[in-house]
Amino acid sequence: PKVDIAVDPLEGTTLCAKDMPGSIAVMAMAQAGTLLYAPDVYMDKIAIGPGYPKGIIDLDASVEDNIQALAKAKGVKANEITALVMDRPRHADLIGKLRALGCSIRLITDGDVVGVIQCAETAKTGIDIYLGIGGAPEGVLAAGALRCVGGQMQGRLILDTPEKIARAATMGVKDPKK
Ligand code: FBP
Repeated sequence: PKVDIAVDPLEGTTLCAKDMPGSIAVMAMAQAGTLLYAPDVYMDKIAIGPGYPKGIIDLDASVEDNIQALAKAKGVKANEITALVMDRPRHADLIGKLRALGCSIRLITDGDVVGVIQCAETAKTGIDIYLGIGGAPEGVLAAGALRCVGGQMQGRLILDTPEKIARAATMGVKDPKK
């Protein structure tokens, strides 16, 4: 069969170099034509694990609405939700909103493929939701993992310059806002 392959031989380079947990060798394989050929740009991401009604998280909804919807579906209060976020200055606003809701926040230094996968094992990891901006190729790999074990994820490429839009277009991305 013809397949698409997405591979990152060392995801979490710095984690590996520092002998910290969370670096992985990761490969996703799917029917030909189904994996996004992601340019090396950032991606806005949101993900939750399995067992929730379809569509309760949405990149276009506010942080507050996403957390409230997830909490309602889980049958808990917003301040009982734990979010995993990459520790980056670009997430200051997001982290502020999560703190205002009373959410617990697990900050990671790197490795958001493992970060997203942790949402699928809430009983073991305590993570309910992944939010924030990370690498786009990593987003494809994380979405592939959730597709296998269950869960929901949305990702949107951040194409904020004409050069990035043009580069993505050469890789088959026709709608930069998809
Ligand atoms: P590398 O293994 O390529 O260093 O990626 C690690 C990583 O933390 C990814 O998991 C994540 O998506 C991306 O870097 C975030 O990028 P940045 O460090 O620029 O915020």
